[in-house]
Amino acid sequence: MKVLVVGSGGREHVICYKLSKSSRVTELYCAPGNGGIAQIATCVDIKASEVDRIVSYAKEGKFDLVFVAPEDPLALGLVDKLEAEGIRAFGPRANAAIIESSKAFSKNLMKKYNIPTARYELFDDEKKALEYLETQPMPIVIKCDGLALGKGVIIAQTLDEAKDAVRSMMSDKAFGDAGNTVVIEECMTGPELTILAFSDGNTAVPMISSRDHKRVFDHDEGLNTGGMGAVTPGADLDDEDMASIQRKIIAPTIEALKAEGRPFKGVIYFGLMLTPEGAKVVEYNCRFGDPEVQAILPLLENDFMDVIDAVIDGKLADIEIRWRNKCSCVVVMASGGYPVKYEKGYEITGIDTCGKLVFQAGTALKDGKIVTNGGRVLCVYDEGDTLDEAIDGAYEGVKKISFKDAHYRTDIGRTLGNIPHIKA
Ligand code: AMP
Ligand code: GLY
Repeated sequence: MKVLVVGSGGREHVICYKLSKSSRVTELYCAPGNGGIAQIATCVDIKASEVDRIVSYAKEGKFDLVFVAPEDPLALGLVDKLEAEGIRAFGPRANAAIIESSKAFSKNLMKKYNIPTARYELFDDEKKALEYLETQPMPIVIKCDGLALGKGVIIAQTLDEAKDAVRSMMSDKAFGDAGNTVVIEECMTGPELTILAFSDGNTAVPMISSRDHKRVFDHDEGLNTGGMGAVTPGADLDDEDMASIQRKIIAPTIEALKAEGRPFKGVIYFGLMLTPEGAKVVEYNCRFGDPEVQAILPLLENDFMDVIDAVIDGKLADIEIRWRNKCSCVVVMASGGYPVKYEKGYEITGIDTCGKLVFQAGTALKDGKIVTNGGRVLCVYDEGDTLDEAIDGAYEGVKKISFKDAHYRTDIGRTLGNIPHIKA
């Protein structure tokens, strides 16, 4: 099979890595890819958001499959456009990808179908939003409706902070049109957990749980980032806990989308908070999480292409998805200054000799050398029989890799104790 993967991060690197191991994939391409992906796939100079160029390229090149990994092209309808040209594609259509691109849509969906989430109100009028805040207990959470690279969420401790957040989103347009509508919601408490699931529109099969680390510094301090590391499992959930999440959250979400005429095919991301009242949805994403998937996918035993086919053909109920019984950890190495301001172009050494799997994100090949080319530069993976083994192994790798001003957290997987025992 001739396969094109769309995207350029660590997520796309692990997707390409698994596809490169598939006995069924003979030719692998990635648009636009990165320095690491270039070692296992042919990189094509088309950005993920250039959806019409991707469609033409896939058509001319007679690709058997296009795997759309990031949210932007999914929200722009890349899968719909590929299908319209008769090209097989992995990922939700735009009318289902909306669960990520509009928080207002997903909150209303959860309310209509009784899926547990934080209490909320939606506002497209700034004055009404400010008046509503006066009546609410603090802290409170303000979110802009649209895509904002994970930055459009403010947890306000005081009424003044909350009002500032509303003004910055609605009149100062800090996030552009994404803030035309805001969600104001109750602040929940409890550990966060990521559950990703494959969905074929009818059946959803959860993957192993994982835990992201969003803040840039140790002890969850500093700004939110795309994610500084992840572990699996993300919590010590027993079969009953998983069954409860499946029954109360995963299955009703897939059913709700189907009932709304928006069947979800692809990978659905459930960002959960395990609150004292049980698991509630913080957010949905319409794709694999990054860096969670770099920790999860290496443990998949099946040929990845068989799972992709089952999702596209609506046959997930017919296959068994198997995972190696290991714990895993990925530690992200970022450019100093990320997520605000950072330099690019520094040479990276040690990737090939560190003895661990390394998934590259913001890297480029320049004069035969791998150099930094983004905020999150790469992540180092390891696995073990215990989470401690996996974490120690990943950090052994990190210590052997260097580039100027490299920054990484030293507490990935250790923030809540090792594997937290939490009830869902
Ligand atoms: P989101 O982009 O919706 O996932 O929000 C980003 C982060 O903000 C989440 O991972 C949570 O840590 C936090 N957050 C979002 N909504 C809430 C909420 N209602 N209560 C508490 N924390 C929240
Ligand atoms: N790791 C969080 C995300 O991919 O959105």
